[in-house]
Amino acid sequence: MISLVVLISGGGSNVRSLLEAAEDAEYPARVVAIGADRDAPGFEHAEAFGIPTFTVPFTSFPNREAWGAALLDQVRLWDADVVILSGFMRLLPPGFVDALSPQLINTHPAYLPEFPGAHGVRDALAAGVRQTGASVIIVDNGVDSGPIIAQERVAIEPDDTESSLHDRIKRVERQLLVQTVLDIANNTVNLQELSDR
Ligand code: GAR
Repeated sequence: MISLVVLISGGGSNVRSLLEAAEDAEYPARVVAIGADRDAPGFEHAEAFGIPTFTVPFTSFPNREAWGAALLDQVRLWDADVVILSGFMRLLPPGFVDALSPQLINTHPAYLPEFPGAHGVRDALAAGVRQTGASVIIVDNGVDSGPIIAQERVAIEPDDTESSLHDRIKRVERQLLVQTVLDIANNTVNLQELSDR
């Protein structure tokens, strides 16, 4: 059984999929805490499943490094096997990434290295491509540039809006994340090996 800390900024549908998966006693991972950089609406899932939460507001610190150090202190309290960024919308300072990577993973709503950054869905639509995707990666110090653990294509429909496309991507993303965590727990995915490649 592996333990997970999940960091969110928004609605937390991805973390909910992990909480639901963990209701199955056979699923080999448990979320031990959910953290955020703000009062995230996704905390409602933590409450529903009785998971502890913590908030380290970005705006309470003089700079990114100080905020990252405080966030790292909170994360470390849980001694988790893997830390997941799941819709966490702040760039993390190198001190945070270096302390946790490669046991630090991120979900992204595009088929990386295509469309990195904060607007992966919008950028794919604007590019006029016919397919995009979802990815789970190891976090490094670039923007969505770390080793890819798993990814899947999602077709773009002619009448897609950012919201309709993101909804479809998120459905794929949730399955990808639940499967990736299972693979890490079963050691069919080895994060250290992937990051050493
Ligand atoms: C997800 O699509 C995630 O990949 C994306 O935010 C969404 C969060 O959804 N993350 C990024 O764009 C990071 N660059 P959720 O809050 O419902 O889980």
